[in-house]
Amino acid sequence: MGNQPRIRIFVAAAGQETVNDLYRAILNDSRLMAAGAAATMDALPTTLPYANPDVLILDAELLVGLGNPKKMVEYVGNLPGAVVLLLPANLDALRGQFVALPNVHEVLQKPVSPSEAVARAYQVGISAQVATSAQAARAAASAEGTAQAGGAALPGLVVAVFGKGGTGKTTIAVGLATTFHRHGIRTLLVGLDVPDAVGIQLGLSPSPNMLEWFRNPSLETLESLIRQPKSPDLPDVLLSPNDAVAAAAIANADFVERLREAVRETAATLPNLTPASVADVAADGAQQAMAAGGTGRIVALIDAIRRLPRPYAAVVLDLPPTLANDWAVQPIRRANAVILVAEPSYTDQVNVAHAVQVLTGAVDARYRLSRSSLYIVLNRVQEGDLDGRAMQEGIATLNEQTLGEAWAPPILAVVPASPAVRKAQMEFRSPLDTDPGMRSAMEAIARYFFGDVIAEQKPARRYIRIGPIRLGVRR
Ligand SMILES: Nc1ncnc2c1ncn2[C@@H]1O[C@H](COP(=O)(O)OP(=O)(O)OP(=O)(O)O)[C@@H](O)[C@H]1O
Ligand SMILES: [Mg+2]
Repeated sequence: MGNQPRIRIFVAAAGQETVNDLYRAILNDSRLMAAGAAATMDALPTTLPYANPDVLILDAELLVGLGNPKKMVEYVGNLPGAVVLLLPANLDALRGQFVALPNVHEVLQKPVSPSEAVARAYQVGISAQVATSAQAARAAASAEGTAQAGGAALPGLVVAVFGKGGTGKTTIAVGLATTFHRHGIRTLLVGLDVPDAVGIQLGLSPSPNMLEWFRNPSLETLESLIRQPKSPDLPDVLLSPNDAVAAAAIANADFVERLREAVRETAATLPNLTPASVADVAADGAQQAMAAGGTGRIVALIDAIRRLPRPYAAVVLDLPPTLANDWAVQPIRRANAVILVAEPSYTDQVNVAHAVQVLTGAVDARYRLSRSSLYIVLNRVQEGDLDGRAMQEGIATLNEQTLGEAWAPPILAVVPASPAVRKAQMEFRSPLDTDPGMRSAMEAIARYFFGDVIAEQKPARRYIRIGPIRLGVRR
């Protein structure tokens, strides 16, 4: 492991001693790297841009030489990158102005221990990394034919929504796909959990669904199975087979196919088979077939979606609540982002830590996602719950034991618990229209992945339906 880049921190503090203390705290933390240091203002303009850190820890005492408060605030506002400001008591009157600067992520009251300052800088750096990988995800979303780890050419963003049973996966998947769609991003929402929950939330009948495609895997069939909900404010939808027996049969058939291939390969190298060696070959083959779990017809379905003549810019997958299932293993292989939905509880710290371990391949060779594609969405958050930082720290600590490194995915959004969510679902309305917390959380994620598209302030689209045709009109 260890493929996660360290957070690079630059230290600027008044006096070599303070610099050294902070520097030592950085060196003691394996998640961090010292990008540079300055003990006077003069050193900053040349060293800082060159060092190009993720985070600058700036002791505001350094600024006193600038003379007046206006200049100090201006100076900080012009610094590149994310700033964690250490504020001495005599400058406390400027706190509000510093906090308001977009590049200042934290203002810490002095005295502050070096380890505390560095820990905060780490958190800020993690968010900065989120912004960087957002650019990567967006690039992937816009680049046609981007090569995926799995080998297939996959234009567009594939987001898989995963989490323990009942955490709100389907709610988040539907909300996110709807938000993408409402921003004019052509989106397909895919249900992969059985029985199909996406259709239930949107008030759709359970068929037609993807089952027919497994019998007749052509693009025309696939197109005919994609549903357009009655409300033009909702995205296109492909529903799950809605039949546990059929779904298991598909997964089992995929396994048998992988087994056949593995056994064929091994058997070809053994000319004199005995009953004992046949059993060994079969057992080895079964293991190989499991390890190759990321191939099969469910992967082929995602690939087919990517090859539809009218491509989707975003595909949102509502996964089943367990990773021990081909209906999760296979589609995740094609995801460029996995959102782990969790509640702010100790139980979900364990669940997220476990998912991180499995998905990054630490315990199961079927998954080999890079850490930069994993995110957390905290759902059903209430007053007095663990905060995001406590969640991340808990997850990182759990992962330290198994991954050998304290790491937690960044938190992409926090959704408050709200009775309006279920109420809206019971009335087949979108919680986005009734619950501001849900709406702003989904907006935050949409902006993360498609910020540049959304920031263009394209007038929102409204749709009029004429028979089977939907027309987008500008508001
Ligand atoms: N932010 C929220 N506030 C209040 N209730 C919520 C919130 N998010 C989800 N719920 C409710 O929690 C319940 C479970 O949500 P959902 O079905 O989306 O979870 P899930 O993880 O997909 O479940 P499953 O594991 O069964 O697929 C639903 O009744 C939903 O209305
Ligand atoms: Mg669900």
